[in-house]
Amino acid sequence: MDKIYWGADAGLAAYHRSRFEEFLTAGPEAFEKACRDENGRLKHIVSAEHFSLDLLKTIRDTTNAARRISKMDPDFLKGLLRHKSVLNYFPQPSTRTFLSFSRAESKLGIQREEVRDLKTSSTAKGESDLDALRTQSSFYEGMVVRHPSDLYGHFTVWAMQNSRRPLHIFNAGSGTKEHPTQAILDHYTMEESLGTLDGKTIAFYGDCLRSRVIHSGARLLALHKDVTIYFVAPDSLQIDTETEEYITRRGVTVRKINTGIGELPAFVDVNYMTRLQDEYGAGSQSEKYPADLVFTKDHLRMMSETSILMHPMPKREEIEPCLDYIDDKRIMLWRAQRNGMWTRAGTMAYVFGVDEQIRDKYASLETRITKMMKQRK
Ligand code: NCD
Repeated sequence: MDKIYWGADAGLAAYHRSRFEEFLTAGPEAFEKACRDENGRLKHIVSAEHFSLDLLKTIRDTTNAARRISKMDPDFLKGLLRHKSVLNYFPQPSTRTFLSFSRAESKLGIQREEVRDLKTSSTAKGESDLDALRTQSSFYEGMVVRHPSDLYGHFTVWAMQNSRRPLHIFNAGSGTKEHPTQAILDHYTMEESLGTLDGKTIAFYGDCLRSRVIHSGARLLALHKDVTIYFVAPDSLQIDTETEEYITRRGVTVRKINTGIGELPAFVDVNYMTRLQDEYGAGSQSEKYPADLVFTKDHLRMMSETSILMHPMPKREEIEPCLDYIDDKRIMLWRAQRNGMWTRAGTMAYVFGVDEQIRDKYASLETRITKMMKQRK
C-alpha cells in the first residue's frame, strides 16, 4: 500500500485508499473472480494462485508451438495480434523481464510502447497512480506492469474495474509478493529438464523472505503431487508464514534449513539461487550475502546428471564466478532467459485468445512435414 502514490492531497488520498481497502477485504476468491472473464478464462495474469496444471500445460504447448512456428513461418505469428497494443509500464528497474516481454509482443505482432521513467510522466505533476493507470488504459488493450508495491497487481485489477475498458493486465513483478510470469518460465524450464515435477525436490537458496520469484514459484510447485521444498536461508530471511501455510495446505513437504547449502545439491532435483532483495531493506546492496549460500564448483560436482541449477537473475555473488566458464547442460541460467521470452509469448497468446490458433497451425505444419518426409522415402 505504502508504495502506491495516491496523489498530493491527503484527504483525497485517504478516500481512494479506503475504497481500495474495501476491495481487498472482499478476499482472495473475489479477487480471483475479478481476474476471470464470464467463461472462467483468466483475463489478467497477476497471481500464481490463479493457475492450474491445465493452464500451465496450455501455455507450455502454445509456447512450444510458437517456438517451432517461428522457425518455419514467423509471419504467421506476426499477423496474429497486429491490431492489439500493449503498454510496458516498468517504473521499477528491469532488464530481462522488460526485454523478454517486449520481444514476445513483437513476435506476436503486438504494437508496443513503454513508460519506465516516471520523471517524464504526469506523476511528476502530482497525478495519482490511479489516474495514471486509467489514462494509460485508454490507449491500449494490455498493460505489463512492474512495480515495487506488494499490492500493485491487486491495485491494477481494482483500478480497471472502475473502467469499462476490457484491458488485460500482466504482472511483471509486484514488490516482494508476486512474479507470476517468472514462475511460469521457471516451471516450464524445470519440466523441460526433469519431466513431471510430481515427487521432485526443489531447494530455494538465498532470500526466501523477500523473493517474489520464490513466493510465486513455490505456489506453482504446490500444484504437483509429493513435492518437497527446502528453503535454505538464515533465520532472518526464512520463508514467510503465509507462503509456508499456503503450500503446506496443498501437500508440499517443507524443510527449513539455516546451515547453508551443504550436501543438498547431491540429492535435490532443482537448485534455485536468489540474490538478497536489499532494495526492500535499508538500501541498495547494504546487506552481506551469506558465504555458506554461495553455490560452488564443488556443489556442481555433487549434482546428479539429471538435476539442474537455476537463478532468475540478475546474479551477484550467489554463484562462484568460475561456473560462468563451465559449459554444463545442467546450468540453466542462460537457457531460462530464452524460455522467458517464449513462455511470455505463450502466456500473452493465451490471454489474447490466439493460443488455439497457434497450436492448430503447428499441428497442420507438422502433418505437412510428416507427409513430405514419407513421400521422399
Ligand atoms: C527477479 C525479480 O525482479 O524479482 N528478476 C527477474 O525478473 N528475472 C529477481 C531479482 O531481481 O532478484
